[in-house]
Amino acid sequence: MRLGKRLRVAVADRQEARRALDRRARALLLENTRRRELAGRRGRFSVPSAGHYPFQWFWDSCFHAIVWSRSDWRRAADELDALFAWQRPDGFIPHVVFWDQRRISLWKWWHYMESVGTPRHKPRTTEQMQPPVLALAVERVAEAGGGAEYVRRVLPQLEAYHEHLAAERDPDGDGLISVLSQFETGLDFSPVWQAGGERALKGPLVFARLRRPQVPARLHRYDLERVFRGDLHQESVLVNAIYGKALRALARLARLLDETELAARAAERAARVTEALLAKCADPRDGLFHDLVGREERRTSVKTISALMPLILEDLPREAADRLVASLTDARRFWPAYPVPSVALDEPTFSRDSRLWGIRLIWRGPLSMSTNWLLAQGLAEHGYADEARTIGNRSRELVARHGFNEFYDPLDGSPVGEPSFGWATLAADMP
Ligand code: GLC
Repeated sequence: MRLGKRLRVAVADRQEARRALDRRARALLLENTRRRELAGRRGRFSVPSAGHYPFQWFWDSCFHAIVWSRSDWRRAADELDALFAWQRPDGFIPHVVFWDQRRISLWKWWHYMESVGTPRHKPRTTEQMQPPVLALAVERVAEAGGGAEYVRRVLPQLEAYHEHLAAERDPDGDGLISVLSQFETGLDFSPVWQAGGERALKGPLVFARLRRPQVPARLHRYDLERVFRGDLHQESVLVNAIYGKALRALARLARLLDETELAARAAERAARVTEALLAKCADPRDGLFHDLVGREERRTSVKTISALMPLILEDLPREAADRLVASLTDARRFWPAYPVPSVALDEPTFSRDSRLWGIRLIWRGPLSMSTNWLLAQGLAEHGYADEARTIGNRSRELVARHGFNEFYDPLDGSPVGEPSFGWATLAADMP
């Protein structure tokens, strides 16, 4: 075959492979779709995985909506509507909606710990937040076909959600929002919290340490003012990087509707997030960003996926982005055969599995398509096209070989955690 023809065949093969991936992604989200009714509300959404995660999760649904918007923006809008349906008058949107209350059990006692429910009055939702990806998903739905009409319908709720974050989640007024337990960061058992002057924990102690902040929160019935008076809270780099990126999306959506005052407010908040991350979280030695623990804002030091996340901020200065990319592409840290591990390879706490000492402890090494998607997007936006494509190619290879999984082993790519996992479909949306 002549070179020109061979190239054309290769391009056609690649396009067909990508279309096939889109079809598989859609089929999985469809298989995981549930229609439910609870307390007079209706929802159509995809569960993260039928076995282990039978409810609706906040940031999972935002990711599902992003993938849905590739083929069916109305279905994507439904996914987000099922979250908006549970927005409280103060703007809060919970991290889990227990649409199917029969699946709540005493064995899963954390359902009660993360909510104010009791076995007699089962919770409908948790009282916790999750990384605020919502505005990114709304923007995608609008671009995919929802247009200005869709934005007009959901903007008041999106604005209220962001007002709640700004008003209730920033007790020290520095522009960064706080989480009250690591489960709010979406990185459940990541060792990120272990560095606040603590020695490395092992076994069930990890579990106990990470659940501990939920005890006072539960006792205070998740009254944020009282919770933040204590010391058990944290300014997470991952949550704030997503917050900053979402605020930029909110500003664009507001501009689309000529809501200039909201657009200006959101853009100003976004700029403050980037400034505060640079001033408080960046480690001058290697340019990685670390979470701040407690009222004294003690900076942690364990290198996790969180440390790289400011790459998704479009206004991150070039020099800071270059330093992050140097760490990201360092084969001893974040660039094994299958990037990007959730904990750097050279950390003593790095593990290839999500079961440790017989307990399920996720986010301690295996890679996730959610963070790969975010980082690939950040890289592409900052002009690191090759690195972005490498993450995209390896991610698609993993899905082709092992299906849509919750996590993958970054060294040999083997599947880790739950199979048929919703947000792994993000591989279809990568560069
Ligand atoms: C785990 C993850 C969290 C995710 C949830 C549902 O708790 O840590 O990020 O949202 O599962 O998939």
